Amino acid sequence: MSIRILAVSGSSRRGSLNQKLLDIAAYGARDAGAVVTSIRLADYALPLYDGDNEAEQGVPAEARRLQREFAGHDALLIATPEYNGGYTAMLKNALDWVSRPQEDGTSGVALLAGKAAALLSASPGPLGGLRSQLALRTVLDKLGVVVIPDAFALGTAHEAFEGETGLRDKGAEKAIIQVGVALSRTAGRLSNKG
Ligand SMILES: Cc1cc2nc3c(=O)[nH]c(=O)nc-3n(C[C@H](O)[C@H](O)[C@H](O)COP(=O)(O)O)c2cc1C
Repeated sequence: MSIRILAVSGSSRRGSLNQKLLDIAAYGARDAGAVVTSIRLADYALPLYDGDNEAEQGVPAEARRLQREFAGHDALLIATPEYNGGYTAMLKNALDWVSRPQEDGTSGVALLAGKAAALLSASPGPLGGLRSQLALRTVLDKLGVVVIPDAFALGTAHEAFEGETGLRDKGAEKAIIQVGVALSRTAGRLSNKG
């Protein structure tokens, strides 16, 4: 049975550099035999998390839909922009909603804990959004996600892409593909499917 990887971008921007980066790593994961589902967080109409709203109205249907996506996958491939030294509010809001209790009352954190994840970031700046990965890693660690050491921060990303699907720097492209391969292999070992 194939490993199922959920590919998530922290950006919903059309022409997002992080989405392009994610697509390259997803290619690597598919090449290693994984089934990769790429979702756009903007396609989930998630309100900004508010405890009073949750208490009064429960977890919204769109958050339930996102929880089901996480439930249906073994591992996470995440690319996120750096916004002022952190990762994006859209991604944090999504993680917060996923972590809320599931329909059967069990913890939503269980949808994250024990899963492997690989992190990527892209930025026009020289550090490639690396600080966003560090901030995200802290949160995922707390949730029990197994963040693999294979990662990539693509600097000067606005000049890095060639065509729709490749990078000018073929060495970097290979390293990004390898992140997807490594995630697929680690997820296989963790879920006994490898
Ligand atoms: C509110 C905001 C804050 C930003 N802060 C940073 C930053 O701290 N470091 C950085 O490298 N880029 C920063 N950027 C630039 C983003 O890296 C750049 O817009 C990038 O292309 C966003 O990713 P995307 O192309 O995937 O949407 C910021 C952009 C915005 C809109």
